[in-house]
Amino acid sequence: MSRTLDATKTAARLARLTRLRPALALVLGSGFQGVLERVESAQTIAYEKLPGFPAVGVAGHQGKLVLGQLGGVPVAILSGRFHYYEGHGLDTVTFPVRVLAEFGVRDLLLTNAAGGIHRRFRPGDFMALADHINFMGANPLRGAAVPGRERFVDLSETYSRDLRKLLRRAAKPARARMHEGVYLAVSGPSYETPAEIRAFARLGADAVGMSTVPEAIVARQCGLRVAAVSCITNLAAGRSGGPLSHHEVLALSQQVKAKTAALLENFAKLYAEEKSN
Ligand code: HPA
Repeated sequence: MSRTLDATKTAARLARLTRLRPALALVLGSGFQGVLERVESAQTIAYEKLPGFPAVGVAGHQGKLVLGQLGGVPVAILSGRFHYYEGHGLDTVTFPVRVLAEFGVRDLLLTNAAGGIHRRFRPGDFMALADHINFMGANPLRGAAVPGRERFVDLSETYSRDLRKLLRRAAKPARARMHEGVYLAVSGPSYETPAEIRAFARLGADAVGMSTVPEAIVARQCGLRVAAVSCITNLAAGRSGGPLSHHEVLALSQQVKAKTAALLENFAKLYAEEKSN
Protein backbone atom coordinates (compact mmCIF):
# COMPACT_ATOMS: atom_id res chain seq x y z
CA MET A 1 0.00 0.00 0.00
CA SER A 2 2.60 2.56 1.10
CA ARG A 3 4.70 1.26 -1.79
CA THR A 4 2.38 2.78 -4.39
CA LEU A 5 1.78 5.91 -2.31
CA ASP A 6 5.53 6.51 -2.04
CA ALA A 7 6.09 5.73 -5.71
CA THR A 8 3.36 8.21 -6.64
CA LYS A 9 5.00 10.88 -4.50
CA THR A 10 8.47 10.23 -5.90
CA ALA A 11 7.05 10.25 -9.44
CA ALA A 12 5.44 13.62 -8.74
CA ARG A 13 8.79 14.92 -7.49
CA LEU A 14 10.44 13.62 -10.66
CA ALA A 15 7.78 15.29 -12.82
CA ARG A 16 8.70 18.60 -11.17
CA LEU A 17 12.40 18.06 -11.91
CA THR A 18 12.04 17.45 -15.66
CA ARG A 19 9.81 18.46 -18.55
CA LEU A 20 10.44 15.19 -20.41
CA ARG A 21 7.71 12.55 -20.33
CA PRO A 22 9.37 9.48 -21.92
CA ALA A 23 7.40 6.37 -22.82
CA LEU A 24 10.56 4.27 -22.86
CA ALA A 25 12.82 3.55 -19.88
CA LEU A 26 16.07 1.58 -19.65
CA VAL A 27 17.75 0.02 -16.64
CA LEU A 28 21.51 -0.31 -17.14
CA GLY A 29 23.35 -3.33 -15.78
CA SER A 30 27.10 -4.02 -15.86
CA GLY A 31 28.42 -3.51 -19.38
CA PHE A 32 25.63 -1.24 -20.59
CA GLN A 33 26.77 2.11 -19.16
CA GLY A 34 28.40 3.19 -22.45
CA VAL A 35 25.02 4.25 -23.84
CA LEU A 36 25.02 7.26 -21.50
CA GLU A 37 27.55 8.96 -23.80
CA ARG A 38 25.01 8.76 -26.62
CA VAL A 39 22.18 10.50 -24.78
CA GLU A 40 21.54 13.98 -26.17
CA SER A 41 20.31 16.95 -24.11
CA ALA A 42 20.91 14.77 -21.07
CA GLN A 43 19.55 15.81 -17.75
CA THR A 44 20.94 13.97 -14.74
CA ILE A 45 19.07 13.51 -11.50
CA ALA A 46 21.02 11.95 -8.62
CA TYR A 47 19.16 9.19 -6.81
CA GLU A 48 19.55 11.23 -3.58
CA LYS A 49 17.00 13.67 -5.03
CA LEU A 50 14.45 10.88 -5.36
CA PRO A 51 12.88 9.84 -2.05
CA GLY A 52 12.80 6.06 -1.62
CA PHE A 53 15.93 5.43 -3.74
CA PRO A 54 18.73 4.18 -1.44
CA ALA A 55 22.45 4.63 -2.11
CA VAL A 56 23.99 2.34 -4.76
CA GLY A 57 26.82 0.01 -3.74
CA VAL A 58 28.54 -2.13 -6.42
CA ALA A 59 31.70 -1.08 -8.27
CA GLY A 60 30.82 -0.08 -11.83
CA HIS A 61 27.34 1.13 -10.83
CA GLN A 62 26.48 4.78 -10.24
CA GLY A 63 23.21 6.05 -8.90
CA LYS A 64 21.55 8.48 -11.26
CA LEU A 65 18.52 8.85 -13.44
CA VAL A 66 19.40 10.26 -16.85
CA LEU A 67 16.71 11.78 -19.04
CA GLY A 68 17.27 12.84 -22.63
CA GLN A 69 17.04 11.82 -26.27
CA LEU A 70 18.39 8.50 -27.47
CA GLY A 71 18.15 7.60 -31.16
CA GLY A 72 15.57 10.36 -31.53
CA VAL A 73 13.25 9.34 -28.69
CA PRO A 74 12.91 10.66 -25.17
CA VAL A 75 14.14 8.09 -22.66
CA ALA A 76 14.53 7.71 -18.91
CA ILE A 77 17.62 5.73 -17.97
CA LEU A 78 18.26 4.25 -14.55
CA SER A 79 22.01 4.03 -14.23
CA GLY A 80 22.71 1.96 -11.17
CA ARG A 81 20.30 -0.59 -9.74
CA PHE A 82 19.67 -2.05 -6.31
CA HIS A 83 20.39 -5.73 -5.88
CA TYR A 84 18.79 -8.25 -3.57
CA TYR A 85 22.27 -9.52 -2.59
CA GLU A 86 23.13 -6.10 -1.15
CA GLY A 87 20.54 -6.78 1.52
CA HIS A 88 17.74 -4.61 0.14
CA GLY A 89 14.23 -5.98 0.27
CA LEU A 90 12.66 -6.72 -3.12
CA ASP A 91 10.26 -3.79 -2.59
CA THR A 92 13.32 -1.51 -2.49
CA VAL A 93 14.93 -3.28 -5.46
CA THR A 94 11.79 -2.71 -7.55
CA PHE A 95 10.80 0.73 -6.22
CA PRO A 96 12.38 2.60 -9.18
CA VAL A 97 10.22 0.56 -11.58
CA ARG A 98 7.08 1.57 -9.68
CA VAL A 99 8.22 5.20 -9.82
CA LEU A 100 8.78 5.01 -13.59
CA ALA A 101 5.34 3.46 -14.08
CA GLU A 102 3.69 6.21 -12.01
CA PHE A 103 5.73 8.78 -13.98
CA GLY A 104 4.03 7.52 -17.16
CA VAL A 105 6.59 5.18 -18.71
CA ARG A 106 4.92 2.49 -20.88
CA ASP A 107 7.84 0.28 -21.97
CA LEU A 108 10.85 -0.94 -20.04
CA LEU A 109 14.11 -2.43 -21.29
CA LEU A 110 16.11 -4.18 -18.56
CA THR A 111 19.79 -5.01 -19.11
CA ASN A 112 22.17 -7.18 -17.11
CA ALA A 113 25.39 -9.16 -17.06
CA ALA A 114 24.93 -12.91 -16.92
CA GLY A 115 26.88 -16.15 -16.95
CA GLY A 116 26.41 -18.33 -20.02
CA ILE A 117 24.98 -21.80 -19.40
CA HIS A 118 24.00 -22.73 -22.97
CA ARG A 119 26.92 -24.54 -24.63
CA ARG A 120 26.87 -22.24 -27.66
CA PHE A 121 27.12 -19.01 -25.67
CA ARG A 122 30.47 -17.18 -25.62
CA PRO A 123 31.59 -14.21 -23.51
CA GLY A 124 30.60 -11.06 -25.38
CA ASP A 125 27.40 -12.64 -26.78
CA PHE A 126 23.95 -11.33 -25.90
CA MET A 127 20.72 -13.03 -24.97
CA ALA A 128 17.27 -11.53 -25.30
CA LEU A 129 15.15 -12.99 -22.52
CA ALA A 130 12.38 -15.17 -23.88
CA ASP A 131 11.37 -16.15 -20.34
CA HIS A 132 12.80 -16.53 -16.86
CA ILE A 133 13.03 -18.89 -13.91
CA ASN A 134 12.81 -17.16 -10.55
CA PHE A 135 15.28 -19.01 -8.32
CA MET A 136 15.82 -16.09 -5.94
CA GLY A 137 13.61 -17.69 -3.33
CA ALA A 138 11.52 -14.53 -3.06
CA ASN A 139 8.84 -12.69 -5.01
CA PRO A 140 8.65 -8.88 -5.14
CA LEU A 141 4.84 -8.97 -4.94
CA ARG A 142 4.84 -10.77 -1.59
CA GLY A 143 3.34 -8.63 1.14
CA ALA A 144 0.33 -6.36 1.41
CA ALA A 145 -1.74 -6.18 -1.76
CA VAL A 146 -1.14 -3.02 -3.77
CA PRO A 147 -4.49 -1.21 -4.22
CA GLY A 148 -5.48 -0.97 -7.86
CA ARG A 149 -2.92 -3.56 -8.89
CA GLU A 150 -3.37 -7.25 -9.66
CA ARG A 151 -2.58 -9.60 -6.75
CA PHE A 152 -1.92 -12.72 -8.88
CA VAL A 153 0.00 -11.38 -11.83
CA ASP A 154 0.02 -13.35 -15.09
CA LEU A 155 3.57 -14.05 -16.30
CA SER A 156 2.78 -16.20 -19.33
CA GLU A 157 4.35 -13.56 -21.59
CA THR A 158 6.59 -11.54 -19.31
CA TYR A 159 8.88 -10.43 -22.13
CA SER A 160 7.03 -8.78 -24.99
CA ARG A 161 7.35 -10.55 -28.35
CA ASP A 162 7.27 -7.23 -30.19
CA LEU A 163 10.04 -5.67 -28.11
CA ARG A 164 12.08 -8.87 -28.40
CA LYS A 165 11.82 -8.57 -32.17
CA LEU A 166 13.21 -5.02 -31.91
CA LEU A 167 16.15 -6.31 -29.86
CA ARG A 168 16.93 -8.88 -32.54
CA ARG A 169 16.79 -6.25 -35.27
CA ALA A 170 18.86 -3.79 -33.20
CA ALA A 171 21.62 -6.38 -32.75
CA LYS A 172 22.49 -6.74 -36.45
CA PRO A 173 23.91 -3.28 -37.21
CA ALA A 174 25.62 -3.29 -33.78
CA ARG A 175 27.35 -6.55 -34.77
CA ALA A 176 26.12 -8.12 -31.56
CA ARG A 177 25.60 -11.88 -31.53
CA MET A 178 22.07 -12.08 -30.13
CA HIS A 179 20.57 -15.31 -28.83
CA GLU A 180 17.21 -15.86 -27.21
CA GLY A 181 16.79 -17.88 -24.08
CA VAL A 182 15.75 -18.43 -20.51
CA TYR A 183 17.36 -16.39 -17.72
CA LEU A 184 17.55 -17.93 -14.30
CA ALA A 185 17.82 -15.50 -11.38
CA VAL A 186 19.66 -16.42 -8.19
CA SER A 187 20.02 -14.26 -5.09
CA GLY A 188 23.85 -14.24 -5.09
CA PRO A 189 26.26 -12.79 -4.20
CA SER A 190 28.33 -15.96 -4.40
CA TYR A 191 28.62 -17.33 -7.89
CA GLU A 192 27.04 -20.74 -8.52
CA THR A 193 28.68 -24.12 -8.05
CA PRO A 194 29.30 -26.29 -11.13
CA ALA A 195 26.66 -28.72 -9.77
CA GLU A 196 24.11 -25.88 -9.58
CA ILE A 197 24.89 -24.86 -13.15
CA ARG A 198 24.41 -28.46 -14.37
CA ALA A 199 21.09 -28.55 -12.48
CA PHE A 200 19.99 -25.18 -13.94
CA ALA A 201 20.84 -26.42 -17.45
CA ARG A 202 18.55 -29.40 -16.88
CA LEU A 203 15.81 -27.07 -15.68
CA GLY A 204 15.96 -25.22 -18.98
CA ALA A 205 18.10 -22.20 -18.12
CA ASP A 206 20.42 -20.69 -20.75
CA ALA A 207 21.98 -17.94 -18.62
CA VAL A 208 22.23 -17.08 -14.93
CA GLY A 209 22.30 -13.75 -13.12
CA MET A 210 21.41 -11.87 -9.96
CA SER A 211 18.94 -9.22 -11.10
CA THR A 212 16.20 -8.30 -13.59
CA VAL A 213 13.51 -10.83 -12.59
CA PRO A 214 12.10 -8.80 -9.66
CA GLU A 215 11.94 -5.67 -11.82
CA ALA A 216 10.29 -7.57 -14.68
CA ILE A 217 7.61 -8.99 -12.35
CA VAL A 218 6.77 -5.58 -10.86
CA ALA A 219 6.78 -3.97 -14.30
CA ARG A 220 4.23 -6.54 -15.47
CA GLN A 221 2.08 -5.82 -12.43
CA CYS A 222 2.22 -2.13 -13.40
CA GLY A 223 1.12 -3.02 -16.95
CA LEU A 224 4.38 -2.09 -18.67
CA ARG A 225 5.65 -3.88 -21.75
CA VAL A 226 8.98 -5.44 -20.81
CA ALA A 227 12.08 -6.52 -22.69
CA ALA A 228 15.35 -7.68 -21.18
CA VAL A 229 18.79 -8.43 -22.56
CA SER A 230 21.79 -10.11 -20.96
CA CYS A 231 25.39 -9.52 -21.88
CA ILE A 232 27.11 -12.87 -21.42
CA THR A 233 30.18 -11.69 -19.54
CA ASN A 234 31.53 -15.14 -18.65
CA LEU A 235 30.82 -18.82 -18.97
CA ALA A 236 28.93 -20.05 -15.91
CA ALA A 237 30.75 -22.01 -13.19
CA GLY A 238 32.24 -25.27 -14.42
CA ARG A 239 31.67 -24.38 -18.08
CA SER A 240 35.18 -23.03 -18.71
CA GLY A 241 37.32 -24.96 -16.26
CA GLY A 242 38.65 -21.82 -14.55
CA PRO A 243 37.43 -19.82 -11.55
CA LEU A 244 34.96 -16.90 -11.86
CA SER A 245 35.65 -13.38 -10.67
CA HIS A 246 33.78 -10.09 -10.59
CA HIS A 247 36.94 -8.60 -12.08
CA GLU A 248 36.46 -10.79 -15.17
CA VAL A 249 32.83 -9.64 -15.43
CA LEU A 250 33.90 -5.97 -15.22
CA ALA A 251 36.74 -6.44 -17.73
CA LEU A 252 34.39 -7.96 -20.32
CA SER A 253 31.85 -5.21 -19.53
CA GLN A 254 34.49 -2.64 -20.50
CA GLN A 255 35.28 -4.44 -23.76
CA VAL A 256 31.67 -4.48 -24.93
CA LYS A 257 30.87 -0.87 -23.98
CA ALA A 258 30.72 0.43 -27.56
CA LYS A 259 28.71 -2.58 -28.76
CA THR A 260 26.11 -2.33 -26.00
CA ALA A 261 25.82 1.42 -26.60
CA ALA A 262 25.13 0.80 -30.31
CA LEU A 263 22.67 -1.98 -29.45
CA LEU A 264 20.63 0.22 -27.11
CA GLU A 265 20.70 3.22 -29.43
CA ASN A 266 19.51 1.06 -32.34
CA PHE A 267 16.78 -0.33 -30.12
CA ALA A 268 15.59 3.20 -29.28
CA LYS A 269 15.54 4.12 -33.01
CA LEU A 270 13.53 1.04 -33.94
CA TYR A 271 11.22 1.70 -31.00
CA ALA A 272 10.58 5.22 -32.33
CA GLU A 273 9.76 3.76 -35.77
CA GLU A 274 7.42 1.20 -34.26
CA LYS A 275 5.64 3.96 -32.30
CA SER A 276 5.14 6.13 -35.36
CA ASN A 277 3.61 3.26 -37.38
N1 HPA B 1 26.46 -15.97 -12.31
C1 HPA B 1 25.61 -15.12 -11.72
N2 HPA B 1 25.55 -13.83 -12.03
C2 HPA B 1 26.39 -13.37 -12.98
C3 HPA B 1 27.32 -14.20 -13.61
C4 HPA B 1 27.35 -15.58 -13.26
O1 HPA B 1 28.15 -16.40 -13.78
N3 HPA B 1 28.01 -13.44 -14.50
C5 HPA B 1 27.51 -12.17 -14.39
N4 HPA B 1 26.53 -12.13 -13.48
